[in-house]
Amino acid sequence: MSDIAPQAVEALLDAAFGSDRFGRTAYRIRAGVDAVPALSFARVADGALIATIQCWPVAHRAVDGTATPLVMVGPVAVRPDVQRGGHGRVLMAHMLAAAETQADGALMMIGDPEYYGRFFGFDAEATGAWDLPGPYEKRRLLARAVNGHGLPIGAGMIGPR
Ligand SMILES: CC(C)(COP(=O)(O)OP(=O)(O)OC[C@H]1O[C@@H](n2cnc3c(N)ncnc32)[C@H](O)[C@@H]1OP(=O)(O)O)[C@@H](O)C(=O)NCCC(=O)NCCS
Repeated sequence: MSDIAPQAVEALLDAAFGSDRFGRTAYRIRAGVDAVPALSFARVADGALIATIQCWPVAHRAVDGTATPLVMVGPVAVRPDVQRGGHGRVLMAHMLAAAETQADGALMMIGDPEYYGRFFGFDAEATGAWDLPGPYEKRRLLARAVNGHGLPIGAGMIGPR
């Protein structure tokens, strides 16, 4: 990912999500932190960026102050003209393989369970009592244990770490 121009990533994210994406709750969860290089990947075809995945260090903070490290997955973005060609699945599989040995917390994300549950084992079972710094659909707040890191199931706010 380090050799991909940041402007190319931003242009791809605009194309996949729209340029109003910055107001999204996912951006507030990871405000001010840098992506985890070991868990962020890109796909390039004919010299152009066509797909990207980034992961971020975040945490679940319970009311008693206990903080549990988590890794937020996403955005996963594929250039619109090549969507549904397997690029999203390749990037997710690559990230999950790396996370199995390198993630320093369980994985969480905001995404469609029809995609991330069906192919990658994410679900909303542990996240019912979690809270986010902005609006979201509970069914789309997903998580998955990885690399020996389990999921906090109690109430807590998800934010940057
Ligand atoms: C969602 C996204 C990452 C999927 O990547 P992709 O390369 O287009 O899709 P893949 O080829 O990996 O997977 C295709 C399969 O997933 C299914 N699928 C794709 N997006 C889906 C979604 N949002 N919900 C349910 N199923 C979905 C397709 O129907 C297809 O299933 P099939 O093989 O049975 O036909 C990509 O389409 C994208 O960037 N979308 C816009 C941005 C976005 O919504 N990102 C996700 C939130 S973080």
